[in-house]
Amino acid sequence: MESTCIITFANQKGGVGKTTLCALFASYLVSRGHSVTVFDTDPQQSIVKKRTADTATYAGVPLPYNIYPFSMSNEPALIALIENLHNSAAVDFALFDSAGSLNDQALLALFANTDYLLTPFHYDNLTVPSTAIFVAMIVELRRSIGNAMKTVHYVIPNLEEQGVGTKEEKELWKLVNKKLSEHVRIAPTVYKRQTLRRFSTISGMDDQMLVVSPAFDHIYNDIFGIPNTEEE
Ligand SMILES: Nc1ncnc2c1ncn2[C@@H]1O[C@H](COP(=O)(O)OP(=O)(O)OP(=O)(O)O)[C@@H](O)[C@H]1O
Ligand SMILES: [Mg+2]
Repeated sequence: MESTCIITFANQKGGVGKTTLCALFASYLVSRGHSVTVFDTDPQQSIVKKRTADTATYAGVPLPYNIYPFSMSNEPALIALIENLHNSAAVDFALFDSAGSLNDQALLALFANTDYLLTPFHYDNLTVPSTAIFVAMIVELRRSIGNAMKTVHYVIPNLEEQGVGTKEEKELWKLVNKKLSEHVRIAPTVYKRQTLRRFSTISGMDDQMLVVSPAFDHIYNDIFGIPNTEEE
């Protein structure tokens, strides 16, 4: 690739799957032959800590990608990093995991300069409103920046239990999607599966990849300009 594609996982709501999907997307991209770097901007350092634990578990296994902590308290440092990434072909994809809060100074700059912003969420009474506020904030950011902001914003319905939900709930979810789709693209659903709780930063297991591939294939195709045909 000519320049590094920057992808950010963010939602102001915690516990929606940002870190899980970030690590799995890194494995997915590596499995498709790309070079990947992950920047962990969460002060809790979830991915960094997971890598430390995984390195002990998988001693001797070559690392598929590097993970670096990166502080969002220094906006000039972030802008410099993004510029470097955009001017470099050393890695194909830089993935940023972010915290479940919007307090850090440089986050808006990250959202404005990321190529793809991926927002996992799930359908419940707390998560839908805070996701809607997050989407509205990005819409406002785009309005204030104008055409220079190229960010493609996706929401990824996550943690849905297949076959669960009343007819009324399903109608409501459809309505949520319809409202959200006025402002964002909606990826295929990632279902709630026990195997995703066991993700590692060393390898994506086949059964995990099966769960995430409808969403990830869709986004991947979009990045490479391949038409998506499935009905959502
Ligand atoms: N599709 C899924 N199936 C099963 N478990 C999932 C799925 N997605 C996420 N989880 C689980 O949900 C919990 C929260 O996920 P995760 O830590 O990735 O969310 P997060 O948005 O990064 O949270 P935080 O805001 O705290 O950083 C974890 O226990 C994770 O294993
Ligand atoms: Mg996280």
